[in-house]
Amino acid sequence: MGIVIAIDGPAAAGKGTVAKRLAQELGLAKLDTGLLYRGVGFAVLDAGGDPENGEQAHMAAKNLDPAVLQNPALRLDAAAQAASKVAVIPEVRAQLLDFQRDFANNPPPLDSGEPAQGAILDGRDIGTTVCPNATAKLFVTASPEVRADRRYKELLERGEKAIYARVLEDIKERDARDQGRSASPLAAPVDALVLDTSEMNADEAYAKALEFIRSRISA
Ligand code: C5P
Repeated sequence: MGIVIAIDGPAAAGKGTVAKRLAQELGLAKLDTGLLYRGVGFAVLDAGGDPENGEQAHMAAKNLDPAVLQNPALRLDAAAQAASKVAVIPEVRAQLLDFQRDFANNPPPLDSGEPAQGAILDGRDIGTTVCPNATAKLFVTASPEVRADRRYKELLERGEKAIYARVLEDIKERDARDQGRSASPLAAPVDALVLDTSEMNADEAYAKALEFIRSRISA
């Protein structure tokens, strides 16, 4: 079996950026598992439903169309909030589990057509629930204020309107929901390297992550 890298952490901590660079460096297929939850949340909203309704959310997870995952609307905050609501529902999590495990165990070929050396998955419960036997686990975090500031600047750069206080409030709300739920709550796995990026730039975070993973691969 190839290597499996698990990256978890709260919203806007920089997991995605680290995961992307590691995937390129190590020749790994990458799965952004947040997109699956966003896809389910978005599908419920799109059908005029309520993401907190267990039955509707479960049906949307069962019928999740992979084409939806390409929809740029999944990047918007409405989809993020809906995602964290459907993510509380155990049946939704169970429904998405097989797909994630299958991706980790049988990663698809790289964009270049080369076979992947393994898989890298980022989310909230990869190291604790989806891939407890991962080769290396990282928990990427930063203070809510730093994460809100990064997200705020990102939104302005994309030409979107944003208010810092509102972005911070959204992040705190999502943190509370992700940490407080009983099904696979967000928590650092005991055997993870915890990377607090509050005072690190993206290059430093990436260098530390790569060093840790290399040590695990050669162990
Ligand atoms: O990572 P992203 O911000 O796209 O995730 C959106 C939401 O999906 C999170 O706030 C979380 O509630 C949920 N999620 C999860 N488990 C994962 C990935 C995402 O519960 N593995």
